[in-house]
Amino acid sequence: MWVLHKTGLLVLVLVLMVLGSNAAPEGCGLPERLTKPHLRKVLEVRWVLVQAFADYPAGVELVSRLNSSLLEVDLKDDNETVQFTERNTVSGMCLIFRGNLSAPDPETSNHTLLLLSSVQEFDSKVSPYDDQGRADVYQSCPECLTMVYHGVFEGTPGRMLLIYRSEGKHLDVEQLKAARSANAQTAECLKFNILSQFNYDGIAEFCLDKKEEEKEASDGR
Ligand SMILES: *[C@@H]1O[C@H](CO)[C@@H](O)[C@H](O)[C@H]1NC(C)=O
Ligand SMILES: *[C@@H]1O[C@H](CO)[C@@H](O)[C@H](O)[C@H]1NC(C)=O
Ligand SMILES: *[C@@H]1O[C@H](CO)[C@@H](O)[C@H](O)[C@H]1NC(C)=O
Ligand SMILES: *[C@@H]1O[C@H](CO)[C@@H](O)[C@H](O)[C@H]1NC(C)=O
Repeated sequence: MWVLHKTGLLVLVLVLMVLGSNAAPEGCGLPERLTKPHLRKVLEVRWVLVQAFADYPAGVELVSRLNSSLLEVDLKDDNETVQFTERNTVSGMCLIFRGNLSAPDPETSNHTLLLLSSVQEFDSKVSPYDDQGRADVYQSCPECLTMVYHGVFEGTPGRMLLIYRSEGKHLDVEQLKAARSANAQTAECLKFNILSQFNYDGIAEFCLDKKEEEKEASDGR
């Protein structure tokens, strides 16, 4: 009887949690989509990519060659523009994207973020980068971030499904493994290619430039 009672309570709590979220979940197991007023929750955190999927050929190849990816997003002083840095290690080499995003009002666009301008840096060579990026950002827990990124990659429209954990929470291998198949189900439901996927191995190093490594080393002292 006591056990039954407890189970009933748990169900009630779960129902209240679902009713209490302020936006309808978007299906396929995606968590709540972040709207502009809640965007602050994901800023100033180093997000470590733990799992990723793509639905276009070059993206499918990219996820199979990716070793690590680190994302940082910060709000600029105007409180409108979001600045981002994405540091990837692909086949052991650094590929960095930096740029600006806007958080549009719903009258303009229902995506969470739109790419304004960006550059890519590969093998120390910097070049402009424009993939007409649009990102939808979702969050199911404070240390979780899920993003669906829409872009046009060398002429081909495509999407990536990016699943992040905040740095420090990204090394719980058992927890990540447990979430893996649910994430793959979400990916399949959203029509991503699930035959090729990135799973962070918990070991691969991040691409960080020397200056920052030195700064961190001196901060740590
Ligand atoms: C940006 O937001 C912060 C905190 O909400 C506020 O203190 C600051 O005045 C705002 N700045 C501008 C330019 O609106
Ligand atoms: C990067 O990932 C690829 C594909 O999983 C792997 O073959 C390669 O050894 C990794 N390289 C490094 C430096 O970790
Ligand atoms: C981001 O915007 C700032 C101006 O606010 C500009 O100086 C910078 O070059 C932009 N970054 C990129 C990568 O376009
Ligand atoms: C965003 O969604 C709202 C509500 O569904 C809709 O009224 C609005 O037209 C949408 N905005 C755009 C730019 O599609």
